Amino acid sequence: MTDAQVKVPAEYAGVLRQLADQQYQWLVTGVAGFIGSNLLETLLRLGQRVTGLDNFSTGFRHNLDQVRDIVGPQAWRNFHFIEGDIRNFADCEEACDRVDYVLHQAALGSVQRSIEDPIVTNASNVTGFLNMLVSARDARVKRFVYAASSSTYGDHPALPKVEPVIGNPLSPYAVTKYVNELYADVFARRYGMELIGLRYFNVFGPRQNPNGAYASVIPKWLHALKEGKPVYINGDGETSRDFCYIENAVQANLLAALAKHPEAANQVYNIALGDRTTLNGLHALLREMLGEHFPHALRQEAIYADFREGDVRHSQADISKARTLLGYSPTHPIRAGLQALVNQAVDPSRLVKAA
Ligand SMILES: NC(=O)c1ccc[n+]([C@@H]2O[C@H](COP(=O)([O-])OP(=O)(O)OC[C@H]3O[C@@H](n4cnc5c(N)ncnc54)[C@H](O)[C@@H]3O)[C@@H](O)[C@H]2O)c1
Repeated sequence: MTDAQVKVPAEYAGVLRQLADQQYQWLVTGVAGFIGSNLLETLLRLGQRVTGLDNFSTGFRHNLDQVRDIVGPQAWRNFHFIEGDIRNFADCEEACDRVDYVLHQAALGSVQRSIEDPIVTNASNVTGFLNMLVSARDARVKRFVYAASSSTYGDHPALPKVEPVIGNPLSPYAVTKYVNELYADVFARRYGMELIGLRYFNVFGPRQNPNGAYASVIPKWLHALKEGKPVYINGDGETSRDFCYIENAVQANLLAALAKHPEAANQVYNIALGDRTTLNGLHALLREMLGEHFPHALRQEAIYADFREGDVRHSQADISKARTLLGYSPTHPIRAGLQALVNQAVDPSRLVKAA
């Protein structure tokens, strides 16, 4: 699928037109990370002004450099970067100054990291979140959109996941993301703010870090298969996830910020594809797609390891609420998203996001 072949859904097309006509001031926290840098790229391409805040704890300066190279010097002039920390209230206040819309992505991801060090996860994900809420309230931003998480469904077995039906959290990370939703709800009711939580389900795409103990499965496996290194599957491989390409998550953020439906604000939404793929299926897909260019990938069998503690067995979203109230309609199925990544792996100078 090329950019030209992607059919832009009606509601999103309206938002893109609005942004072509009107320049707003956005704040993207976690801007040097995977999702944040993709939001930055889209907003700058649309001629918007963006403040970015990041402490480079899991994000990278080279992500910002890559966005600069993609958007070019003129759009880049609309970007103002603050190297700062959401655990520091003054940094949040500075970042929120004169901002219309906040897209709050900064947090420490990874269930595993939170199990090993819950205090450090809590500091960014709860204290940092609260600092951001108070700063955004005081700056009177128009709307505060934040990264929630499918981990909030915890141990509830129902599939597909619908927003009101959640179970008990399975990790400190899941607790922090649920606390975000509780705070957002209170800030809407007590202070009259407009807030929207996006419960992301396994987002993947360019600039997602393949390295380190807490890397996500798709960039990690892609890198391993390309390099001829072993691929480890936790458990029997029948664990499933609703893998969501980054372009769908970007669409959801812009829709959430600008949605006009009277009931759209002060809600949480599943942001996913609405489908699920097992780890075995994902491995087979990646092997087949990469194998066309790197034949050694076809010969690499996966190595099965223990299940990971805190992992949910199956995950799949019902995305009808986001469809109805936001006009969300994913443009990229898993194959198109993976193809874009494979194309980039084959030719690293290829920075475009569409396959
Ligand atoms: N990627 C996914 O599949 C997924 C799924 C569910 C939820 N989320 C949430 O989406 C958001 C973005 O995730 P991502 O995948 O882009 O992760 P990421 O680690 O690539 O990005 C997070 C960014 O936040 C920054 N950050 C962390 N703590 C900070 C602090 N205290 N002050 C300032 N900056 C800080 C990091 O340096 C990094 O650049 C996070 O809130 C994450 O919990 C992601």
